[in-house]
Amino acid sequence: MKAAQEISKLEPRRNRFDVEQVRKDFPILAQKVHGKPLVYLDNGATSQKPRAVIEVLNHYYAEQNSNIHRGVHHLSERATAAYEAAREKVRRFVNARREQEIVFVRGTTEAINLVAQSYGRTFLKEGDEIIISAMEHHSNIVPWQMLCEQVHARLRVIPMNHDGELVIDEYRQLLNEKTKFVSVAHVSNALGTIVPVKEMVKLAHERGVPVLVDGAQAVPHLKVDVQDIGCDFYAFSGHKMFGPTGVGILYGRSELLDVMPPYQGGGDMISLVTFEKTHYNVLPYKFEAGTPHIAGGIGLGAAIDYLAALHWEQVSSHEDDLLAYATGALSDIEGLRIIGNAKEKAGVISFVFDHLHAHDVGTILDQEGVAVRAGHHCAMPVMQRFGVPATTRASFALYNTREEIDALVKAVGKALKVFG
Ligand code: ALA
Repeated sequence: MKAAQEISKLEPRRNRFDVEQVRKDFPILAQKVHGKPLVYLDNGATSQKPRAVIEVLNHYYAEQNSNIHRGVHHLSERATAAYEAAREKVRRFVNARREQEIVFVRGTTEAINLVAQSYGRTFLKEGDEIIISAMEHHSNIVPWQMLCEQVHARLRVIPMNHDGELVIDEYRQLLNEKTKFVSVAHVSNALGTIVPVKEMVKLAHERGVPVLVDGAQAVPHLKVDVQDIGCDFYAFSGHKMFGPTGVGILYGRSELLDVMPPYQGGGDMISLVTFEKTHYNVLPYKFEAGTPHIAGGIGLGAAIDYLAALHWEQVSSHEDDLLAYATGALSDIEGLRIIGNAKEKAGVISFVFDHLHAHDVGTILDQEGVAVRAGHHCAMPVMQRFGVPATTRASFALYNTREEIDALVKAVGKALKVFG
């Protein structure tokens, strides 16, 4: 009997995906906005946090707060152990080979800038080419443009078709002897398209070209295995996967991280400093200058624990159901056009009306308690590609329900009435 109880503790917490039960884990979801129940459909911008994460953050500051890797005292040892335990959780979460390949950063943006500046400025030179795609977030465009200016390299862009899918044949054409780096999103934040990154990595590697995958929008929805994808770098943020803001991860293959210079100088990233010469620390600390977001790292570990206790297949099928249900319901609204109809999509529906601005729609939705994002979603080239100034974007998470999509549809109907 005891053994059975112990085994059940190890089993995933739920054997059936119970969305109402899951919602109770997220205290913020119970609130009302403008007198209406909150319908939170802005998960692409940031996800809400389960109580388990909030409590770990409180516990850290109430019981453990101390600097890491520095103190010989009890609290510092505890904080260091908790932070390094979180690193191991991240390693398992993305199935990296080694903890040294997991670098804590501020978020996806910092991870990409780190690679652009450290790898790019070291290994790219005039005339080299960097390939990105037409559906990138600004954070996977601008760092490469900055690098191009610095080393006089050239940015090449994989086009997408009218459904918002990358044209892989064009990618094949773009890959050539000048290509020295590829950086692509795993899931588009503006369209929801799932990009065939494994295939794209394979094509790049046939030419010996390293690949970074921007996984910010993928990790909350897809099971990510960096070894299976085969990428050289994988970047993501904690806050979009139910963890805290201000913490993110750069996974990098140790063979590459080893030969890259530090991105920032300061404490913790050194092993010896003299005025004549500084010796850098080993991986991953070489890339972790200064006091990090300790509570954030530990909180990200708690978010991973939270996800690990759910059955991933059930989460996926719940999210697939939400996406299909929302796509059907929104498509029935006269005049509404969905931007991004890729066959493989995750978690996002962007839509427009020809005669209504996305911000007006978003404002009326807010009055009805429905939180969405309206604008260019930090992906202006995507808007340009589809010839729209902005879209209204509903982005889903595992705690959303069909009833919330009904509320979204009703609120869109109201916006149509208000604006004629
Ligand atoms: N990148 C975030 C979004 O897509 C902020 O909304």
